[in-house]
Amino acid sequence: MCGIVGYIGKRNATDILISGLRRLEYRGYDSAGLALLSDDKITLVKQTGKVAALEQRLKESVASDVREHSCIGIAHTRWATHGLPTEANAHPHTADNGDLALVHNGIIENFADLRRQLESHGCIFTSQTDTEALAHLISTFDEGDLLAAVSLALKRVQGTYGIAVISARHPGQIVVARRGSPLVVGIGESETIIASDVSAIVAHTRQVVYLQDGDVALITENGPQVYTLENAAVDRAVSKVEWEVDAAEKGGFAHFMLKEIFEQPAALQNTIRGRLDMALGTAILSGLNLTARELAAIRRLVIVACGTSLHAGMVGKYLFEGLADLPTDPEQAAEFRYCNPILGADDLVVAISQSGETADTLAAVREGMQKGALVAGLCNVVGSTIARETGRGVYLHAGPEIGVASTKAFTAQVTVLLMMALKLGRSRRLSREAGLSLCEEINRIPEMIGRVLEENERIASIAEKYAGCNNAFFIGRGILYPTALEGALKLKEISYIHAEGYQAAELKHGPIALLDKKLPVIALLNDIPGKEKTLGNAQECIARSAPVIGILTEGDHEAEQVSTDVIRLPRTSAYTAPVITAAALQLFAYHVARLRGCEIDQPRNLAKSVTVE
Ligand code: AGP
Ligand code: GLU
Repeated sequence: MCGIVGYIGKRNATDILISGLRRLEYRGYDSAGLALLSDDKITLVKQTGKVAALEQRLKESVASDVREHSCIGIAHTRWATHGLPTEANAHPHTADNGDLALVHNGIIENFADLRRQLESHGCIFTSQTDTEALAHLISTFDEGDLLAAVSLALKRVQGTYGIAVISARHPGQIVVARRGSPLVVGIGESETIIASDVSAIVAHTRQVVYLQDGDVALITENGPQVYTLENAAVDRAVSKVEWEVDAAEKGGFAHFMLKEIFEQPAALQNTIRGRLDMALGTAILSGLNLTARELAAIRRLVIVACGTSLHAGMVGKYLFEGLADLPTDPEQAAEFRYCNPILGADDLVVAISQSGETADTLAAVREGMQKGALVAGLCNVVGSTIARETGRGVYLHAGPEIGVASTKAFTAQVTVLLMMALKLGRSRRLSREAGLSLCEEINRIPEMIGRVLEENERIASIAEKYAGCNNAFFIGRGILYPTALEGALKLKEISYIHAEGYQAAELKHGPIALLDKKLPVIALLNDIPGKEKTLGNAQECIARSAPVIGILTEGDHEAEQVSTDVIRLPRTSAYTAPVITAAALQLFAYHVARLRGCEIDQPRNLAKSVTVE
């Protein structure tokens, strides 16, 4: 999710807010805005596009005395989750006839209920966002104490938030709070800067307070006073920021790709949040806009995608066929768009695209619609072309993915496909009990990925052994075959090693001719059905002197015996094995590329979104 900046002190707030937004620009965003408080009046400016567009709009529409003399303000770069990236949906959102302004990072899950209640009490909404409901809710609780009003409102909120609030009724203060989205308070000389990322603060001060989930704070020029939502004072330590400014933009990680690999537990919590019905043992995917009857009438799925997204779609085949008995055909979008596909009205075409802008996938969407099929989009960028043109689908909610090599988007895509397969399964033969059990396993995905990420040092040491290789094979079977392809693509695209993924049995039909002691084979040996066969394939590689890196289930001594090197994973079912295995393969590729001195975030010849054929 995107960025928040706030300032209160003696200097010109505008310059500090704009420079802070620029520092957060890397996080990706679709619109930006700010609110300035001066002479007990709030001035609001919002703009779609880049921070530069907001700055221009500010110069054109705000009187210089306000622009140059306001000493308190809040600002936001939006990464839309609810509502298109329009000026009306940009933050800050206001209430109380414009006397209160709020910026928010995160997702207010129960915003629809809150909005209905607030509208029934006469609140007028001007946006499609979840955030605006919180602004009005705080205003309704304001009886002279802004901190108390924010705390009372947040007790009514489900979901995640990092917020900053100013009010013309309460000059000389900013109220901030966080649950699930980061907020940092920078303590300067008679000034205080708040931000969702320390990169917007370090230019002004290195003394910071990291707020924790559940904190709410009254911010003045003398710093923060932190409380719980129950108004109990909380003592938060002041830390010193050691990072250099540009490092802080990556949250202290050396590369965006590594940051996004480690963001996966939090990102997948957002992907899953509010989407599992633990009573009926099914998924809640309202964006599909399909009734139970329409879901039950679907006879076939066709998945269209490119690259990593196609690999996710190939995992989807195993999920939909295994859980919902639905024939599923993953198709490379560029092939699909020109092959005059055979489609019917009871086919569901699922277009998977992180960017939502990939030209071949967009063309495949249009071809599917042309043929009268139902078409849904699985996108990460809200309001992207594919999301808009399909008009139905599921957003990943994985947050901006900056690294060109896709990581958290892949695991989020597979997790969404798993929830879709659960929903379609429950509209067919999947029992409530089986559905509940799968809900519980899906809820464990973030924690399981977190355990894989704890293997980072071990994976880095294994990468060191193989960083000098020029070729590598990845082999997998069944639901792990697409993950083998994805592992090969990750290694290929950031380390420039010639890596190929194969169905494990396929090795014997030719590729095995290439094996020698310089060609490592990464074998996906998770302890799920088919492992024994892949173990045999791994032994065939060892018999030809090829080193085998076994990606295996912790405690599986048989697989460890076969492997030259071992990466251990937590035990999972076949359905969640691809997601946690991918995290290990992402780290392996990252460390090999790092050790080879490659440009990891923007590999040569690649683009983050391929908007040409
Ligand atoms: C994956 O690491 C690559 N960046 C690339 O294969 C990517 O997945 C592909 O271009 C599809 O992009 P999309 O998901 O935005 O449609
Ligand atoms: N959910 C809010 C919106 O869609 C905030 C998104 C963000 O974190 O930028 O406007």
